[in-house]
Amino acid sequence: LFGVGALTPGDVAGRVVAVIDVLRASSTIATALANGARSIVPLESSDEVVLRSRQFERRDVKLAGERRMLPIPGFDLGNSPGEYTPEAVEGKTILFATTNGTPALVATQGARDVIVASYVNLKASLAFLRTAARGGADVMILCAGRERHFALEDAACAGRIVRGLMRRRPDVALNDAAQACVLLDRRYGDRLDLLFADAVHGRALAEAGFSADLDACAAIDAQEVVPVYYDRQITKLGPG
Ligand code: MLT
Repeated sequence: LFGVGALTPGDVAGRVVAVIDVLRASSTIATALANGARSIVPLESSDEVVLRSRQFERRDVKLAGERRMLPIPGFDLGNSPGEYTPEAVEGKTILFATTNGTPALVATQGARDVIVASYVNLKASLAFLRTAARGGADVMILCAGRERHFALEDAACAGRIVRGLMRRRPDVALNDAAQACVLLDRRYGDRLDLLFADAVHGRALAEAGFSADLDACAAIDAQEVVPVYYDRQITKLGPG
């Protein structure tokens, strides 16, 4: 099965899961790891970030995330991929709380493997999922969505991944959501400018002054990383 689900943790048990929050958490996570962050710890609230930071030397961590798209007062980093430069993140543990993306990650307990996918690390994610599918795994794509609702950009990206998987396994079963996502990818293709202009969250980010983030999140395959979520932290999949 190649399936796509919303925030339905029951669907992930024993499966290989790709969590998608194109705007912006999964794009930011891929960028941070590509730029040398040691790890990212997804947390459900800013309070948890502050609490967890007490377990570290202050210089080793970055407090990061957003609330209503905006950086959290007193934190080091917001949720703009462009902030996660090598200078800012190299060797650091990022304690990260966002509205939709990090709760979606935390909800994947029971999955066999969990990766973080987006347009910026599409090829790398697809390679990982293809290998899993070849080994007989069920692949489930979890769209973080927006405040527990459907998000166009996550679904279109899920469709791109499903299509990529189907190229090698055209016979595989798709659930209805996966089929709908495929149609969305056929509609938008590489025109992520049009996709983000149609999407509620894309428009909200543009209105809030984050147009540069939309460009960063649309940079297909700019980052060659597979962020793997294991033991409550996300690290870069190593060679081999
Ligand atoms: C989230 O995780 O809710 C999103 O990344 C929101 C945002 O664009 O900051």
